[in-house]
Amino acid sequence: LTTEKQGFKHFMLKEIYEQPSVVRTCLESYVNSEWTAASSTNPINLGLPDDLYTDLEQIHIVACGTSWHASLVGKHLLEQLAQVPSQVHYASEFRYALPPLTPNTLLIGVTQSGETADTLSAIHSEKDRRASLSAAYQPRLLGITNRLQSTLTRLVDSVIDTHAGIEIGVAATKTFIAQLMAFYCLSLDLAYRRQTVSPTRLEELLKQLWQLPTQLEALLETQEKRIEELAHEFVETQDFIFLGRGINFPIALEGALKLKEISYIHAEGYPAGEMKHGPIALLDEKVPVVAIAMPGSVYEKVLSNAQEAKARDARLIGVMPPSDPHAAEVFNDLLPVPEVDELLSPLLTVIPLQFLAYHIAARRGLDVDQPRNLAKSVTVE
Ligand code: G6P
Repeated sequence: LTTEKQGFKHFMLKEIYEQPSVVRTCLESYVNSEWTAASSTNPINLGLPDDLYTDLEQIHIVACGTSWHASLVGKHLLEQLAQVPSQVHYASEFRYALPPLTPNTLLIGVTQSGETADTLSAIHSEKDRRASLSAAYQPRLLGITNRLQSTLTRLVDSVIDTHAGIEIGVAATKTFIAQLMAFYCLSLDLAYRRQTVSPTRLEELLKQLWQLPTQLEALLETQEKRIEELAHEFVETQDFIFLGRGINFPIALEGALKLKEISYIHAEGYPAGEMKHGPIALLDEKVPVVAIAMPGSVYEKVLSNAQEAKARDARLIGVMPPSDPHAAEVFNDLLPVPEVDELLSPLLTVIPLQFLAYHIAARRGLDVDQPRNLAKSVTVE
C-alpha cells in the first residue's frame, strides 16, 4: 500500500499533490494552447454536440457534497462569463420541488463517482417530466464526472470527463479541482459561442490558465511545511469559521467541509458579508477565522469583514497574496497564494485549505482517508 501511496503518508496527501498534473491534463485535453485573440476558431473543444448549446436559455446544476461546491463556482462562471442564467440545486432536494419548466434548458449533473443516488434520481426526474414534451422542452442532459464507466454516463446524453484519475481518499481534492476545470472550459466555450467575452479578455484568461500548473506546483512545494506547523496549533480547536465572497464563497464552504469530514472539527463556511447577521455572535478568541481575501471586486469588503472578526478577538488567518500591504496588519497568520485574475483564484485558494484540513486531521491521529460515517460514494437516497 505504501508504494501505491508513492511515499505519501495518506492517499489524500498524494492526491493533493497530483492537482497540478490534473489541471495540466484538463488543459491539454480541452484547450487549444496556440489560441490568440486573432484566431478564428473556438479555443475550447469539449467534444459536445452543438444542439446542447443551441438557443440556450437556462442551466440547472444538480450535485452533492464537494461536487455541489464546484457547481457553485460553475454557476458563477456560467453567469459571469457566458451570461446564461444558472442555478445550483442540492440533488437530494431537486426532485421534490422541480423548478418551473422552461424551454432550451440544460441540466448538468456533477458527480465525480457518477454513482451518487441523489444526483442520479434528480436527473431521472428531469428526464421523465420532459420526455413527452415538444422539441424545445426535450431534456438536454450533461454529466461532469471522473468515471466514464458509470451509471451517470448511461443516463445523460453527453459527458465531460474530468480526467483526474482514480481518487481514493474519501475527502475529494483532485476531483474537485478537476470539476472546477470542467466548468472553466464549459463557461469559456459558451462565452466564445455567445460572444459574451471579448477575444482579448479570453486570451488573457487562457494565458493565466496555462500558467496554473506551474503556480500550483510552486504553491504545493513552498507551503506545505508552513501550513503543517500552523495546523498543529489547532489540534484542540473545536470550531472554525471560513469566510469568502463572490467566487471564493464556495471555496470557504469547501474549506469548512474538508475540515469537518476528516478532522471532525465543527466548521462553517459563510459569505463574509453575512457574518455580521448572525455568526459573529459565535466569535471569541477560541474560534479561528479563515478569510479568503483575493484582490478583485470584493477584496476591500472581505478585509473589512475580517477586521470585524478581529475586533471580537478571533484569531485571523488570511488566504491572500503575500505581497499585500494589508496582510500583516489584518491577519495573525497568512496562507499565501499567488495573485491571479479573480475569476481563476478558486483554483489556488482551495489548496491551503486542503492542507490545513489534512494536517489538523493527521496530527489528531485520525483515519484521514477513511473518515468515520462517510463513504466515497453514497448509493442510497
Ligand atoms: C459523498 C462523499 C463526498 C462527496 C459526495 C458526492 O458524500 O463523502 O466527499 O463529495 O459523496 O460525491 P460524488 O461522487 O457525487 O461527487
